[in-house]
Amino acid sequence: MDKIIDESLSFAVEQYSLMADVMLDRPDLLPRTIDEEGNLVTAKSNWWTSGFFPGSLWYLYEYSGDEKIKDAAIQMTSRVEREKYNRGTHDLGFMLYCSFGNGFRLTGNTDYQDVMLTGAESLITRYRPNIGCIQSWNSRREWQCPVIVDNMMNLEFLMWAFRMSGDSTYYRICVNHSDTTIKNHYRPDYSSYHVVSYDTITGSVEIKQTHQGAADESVWSRGQSWGLYGYVVMYRETGLERYLDHAVRIADFLIGHRNMPEDMIPYWDFNAPGIPDAKRDASAAAIMASALIELSGYVQAPLMEKYLQVAEKQVRSLASSSYRADPGGNGNFILMHSVGSIPGNSEVDVPLTYADYYFIEALIRLRNL
Ligand code: GLY
Repeated sequence: MDKIIDESLSFAVEQYSLMADVMLDRPDLLPRTIDEEGNLVTAKSNWWTSGFFPGSLWYLYEYSGDEKIKDAAIQMTSRVEREKYNRGTHDLGFMLYCSFGNGFRLTGNTDYQDVMLTGAESLITRYRPNIGCIQSWNSRREWQCPVIVDNMMNLEFLMWAFRMSGDSTYYRICVNHSDTTIKNHYRPDYSSYHVVSYDTITGSVEIKQTHQGAADESVWSRGQSWGLYGYVVMYRETGLERYLDHAVRIADFLIGHRNMPEDMIPYWDFNAPGIPDAKRDASAAAIMASALIELSGYVQAPLMEKYLQVAEKQVRSLASSSYRADPGGNGNFILMHSVGSIPGNSEVDVPLTYADYYFIEALIRLRNL
C-alpha cells in the first residue's frame, strides 16, 4: 500500500503542477472538469467546486514541500476569497474550508482565518431556526426551503468557526442541522434522500425528492458519501455517540449493499438503471474512502479493520489504470470516471475536481496512519 500511496501522490504533484501552469494564465478561474473534446472546463469562484483545486494544492504542498506548489496554492486560494460574502449558497464549506482552511492549517496565516470567519458568518445567515437546518439552495417553484444531504459537508467549517470564535451559535446550528438531517433525510435502512424541502412557515417537511439521483426513493451514491463523511466529522467535533452510531450504520449499509461492485467504486446510484453496465462515480468512492479512514480510528476491531480494508480497496482501485489518468492526460486531472449529474445530463463520466481532492485527502490520511 505504501508504494501505491507514494506513487499516486507523486503523480498528483506532477499532474497538478501542469494544471497550475495552465490556470496561472487564466485569471480568476478555477478548474472544474473537461468537455467532450477533452478541453479544460473552468468555473468562477461562485461555482460550488471552486475550493477544491486550491485545497488539493495545499495537500500536495503538505506532501511534497514543493514551493512551486505552495505558490500556486496561494494564488488559487486568493481567487476564492470574494465568496466570503456570498449569502446565496450553502456551499461555503467546500469553497472556503477546503481552500483557506487547508492553507490556514499549514501556514497559520491569520488573514486566512479572517476570511473564513467572515465566510462562516455569511453561511449561518442561511440557518432556519424553525426548521433546524441550514437552507441549501434558494427557494424555487417546487421547493420552499430545500436542504440536501450534501449540506452535512459544511459543518466541519462551522465547527472550526465555533472553535476559533468560541461562539456557541455555530455549535448549536451544527448539532441541530445534524439531528434534523438524521430525522428527515435518513430512511430506516440508513440510506438518505437527496433533497428534503421544508415549509418555511410551519417548519415541517414539504417533500422528499432527488435532484441528481435516479429516483426519489433511490440511493444516490455521492449523497451517501457526503452524509457518511459529515457524520464522521460531527462525531470528531462533538464526541456525541449518536453521530458515531449513525456514521457506522451508513458505512455498513453502503459496504454491504448488494449493488456495491467488487472494486468498491459505486455506480452513480445504487439503484441506477442498467446495473452492472451503469456508470461508476469515482468521486463517491474517493469521498467514502476518506471518510472510512477517519471512521476506522473511532471504532474497535473488527470494524476498524473492516473500514480500513474497504478504504484501501477503494484507493487501490482508484489508483489503478482503470480510474487514474496517464501523465499529462485527462486535462491534467488525476482521476477519470466521475459523474456530476445524470438527470441533468451534465458531467457524465468525466474527471471532477472534487474526486481528485478527496482522493488526495484519502492518500494523505492513509500515509499518516
Ligand atoms: N452538491 C454537490 C454534488 O453534486 O455532489
